[in-house]
Amino acid sequence: MFGEVKIAPSILSGNFMDMERDIRMLEAAGADIIHVDVMDGHFVPNLTIGVPFVKQLRAITQLPIDVHLMISNPLEQIDWYLDAQPDYVSVHIEAVPDEDQLHGLLRHIRKRGAHPVLTLKPDMPIEALDPFIEDVDMILVMSVYPGFSGQSYIEGSEDRVGYVARLAAQRNPNLLIEVDGGVNADRTAGLVCAQGADVLVAGSGVFAASDPAAAVSAIRVAGEAAQPAGE
Ligand code: DX5
Ligand code: ZN
Repeated sequence: MFGEVKIAPSILSGNFMDMERDIRMLEAAGADIIHVDVMDGHFVPNLTIGVPFVKQLRAITQLPIDVHLMISNPLEQIDWYLDAQPDYVSVHIEAVPDEDQLHGLLRHIRKRGAHPVLTLKPDMPIEALDPFIEDVDMILVMSVYPGFSGQSYIEGSEDRVGYVARLAAQRNPNLLIEVDGGVNADRTAGLVCAQGADVLVAGSGVFAASDPAAAVSAIRVAGEAAQPAGE
C-alpha cells in the first residue's frame, strides 16, 4: 500500500501464436509480473488456457507468474496449477462457498510455496473478504466482470480498493492490493492507486499500445503520481 506500483500485463491480450516473443517483449518492457487469465468456459463465459501453458511459461521466464483462476472447481484442480510453480495464485470467493474449505484452500496454496490471493466479482459485496484477510498475501479487486479483456473500468471500483486498504491497515499491513480490468494511464490507474492499489493488471492497455514499454511505464508513473503525498 503506497510505494512502488507494480505492473502485471495480462497475456490474454497477447499473441497466442507467438507467446514467447510477447514474454520477451514484456521482460524488456519492464513488466514486474506476468498475469495469466485461466478461464474454464463455465465459471466465466470465455475459455482460455490452463496448466500446460503455465508450466511452459514457468520454464521460459524468471518473472513472477500470477495465475488468476476463473474456474468453477479450484478445490479439485489447485494442485495441478501449484505443480507449475506460479508465484501468485488467485481464487474466486464465489467458486468456494464453504468458508472452512476456502480457509483450507488458501492455507494449502501457501504451504505449497505460492502466495495465496483472493478475488471476487464486482457484484460480490466487498465485505465477503473480511474473514480471509489474514490468510492472503494479496487481494485482487476486479474492476470489470471477469471473462474478457478490453472492457471498460466499472466506475466506483476504487471505493472497493479503499475498503480493502483500510481493512489491511488494521489486520494485514503487508497485504498487496491488485486491480484487474480497464486499467489505463489516462485515468483509472490514478483512481485506484490513490486508494492504495499496489499491482495493476493491464491487458489491452499494454498490448494494443504502439510502444508497450512506454505503456508499462506510463501506467506505473500515473499510479505512483496519484498516491497521497507523504506516503
Ligand atoms: C478479465 C481478466 C483481465 C483482463 C484485463 O477477465 O481477468 O485480466 O485480461 O484486460 P484489460 O486490461 O484489457 O481490461
Ligand atoms: Zn485477470
